[in-house]
Amino acid sequence: MIIANWKSNGGLMMIQDWTSDFINSCSPKDFYVGIAPPVIYISDFSLLEWDLDTLKEKSNNKIWDINIGAQDIDHLSGSRTGTVSIRMFEEFGIDFAIIGHSERREFFNEDNDLIKQKIIALNNSNIKTKILCIGETKEENDKGITKDILKNQLEVVDAMELENFIIAYEPVWAIGSGLTPHPKDINEIHKYIKDVVQSNSANKLIPKVLYGGSVTDKNAESFFKEEFVDGALVGGASLDGKTFANIVNIYNSTK
Ligand code: 13P
Repeated sequence: MIIANWKSNGGLMMIQDWTSDFINSCSPKDFYVGIAPPVIYISDFSLLEWDLDTLKEKSNNKIWDINIGAQDIDHLSGSRTGTVSIRMFEEFGIDFAIIGHSERREFFNEDNDLIKQKIIALNNSNIKTKILCIGETKEENDKGITKDILKNQLEVVDAMELENFIIAYEPVWAIGSGLTPHPKDINEIHKYIKDVVQSNSANKLIPKVLYGGSVTDKNAESFFKEEFVDGALVGGASLDGKTFANIVNIYNSTK
């Protein structure tokens, strides 16, 4: 599973270039690939779907669907200036939603209580795939309390029935910094995350766990080789269609 999180980047011209670069570089795959563009560009991705249909013919009908998702949702609607409600995303037919990104936690003061409300709303929606981001800061990492922090962030799913529920492990200090944990350390943390969710969710789900934080087409293979790394959530490197396609291709050949 490989997901692009464009954050607040992009533009109409970029989408056109991105689409043709991605299509020209990406080989056929049969796993989940998604893009979360800024909300205002979501409808422009009908263009991408059109091109992918053409490509599907060229590639003997291998599965080519690209899933479109939200970078965040508002679980409520009504008098809430500036937000986009989950009902609108549902009506649009988006495939997945990211919640709990560290940038939402840091810049918009989102806490576990709010994130839990969003998970409950998503569980009651027809948005199929839910991606919960968790991760520790540099200071927490230095103090050796990473697992405690992650366990606390995972409390939002305690006793919940979870389906198509993915965790993205994104150490805050690795996001956009060019720094990453060692692949072996990522693997160990992913195993820990799977164990915690399995023990605490009502239906004992063992979730897929994605790694996010300075993933590029240069380092992706070292992460994908690890047993408990089920894919990546890619920020900066997803803004270039060719680079993102390279990461998808690397996943395809490594897993
Ligand atoms: P970068 O890949 O730019 O480090 O961002 C990771 C991220 O935050 C994805 O959600």
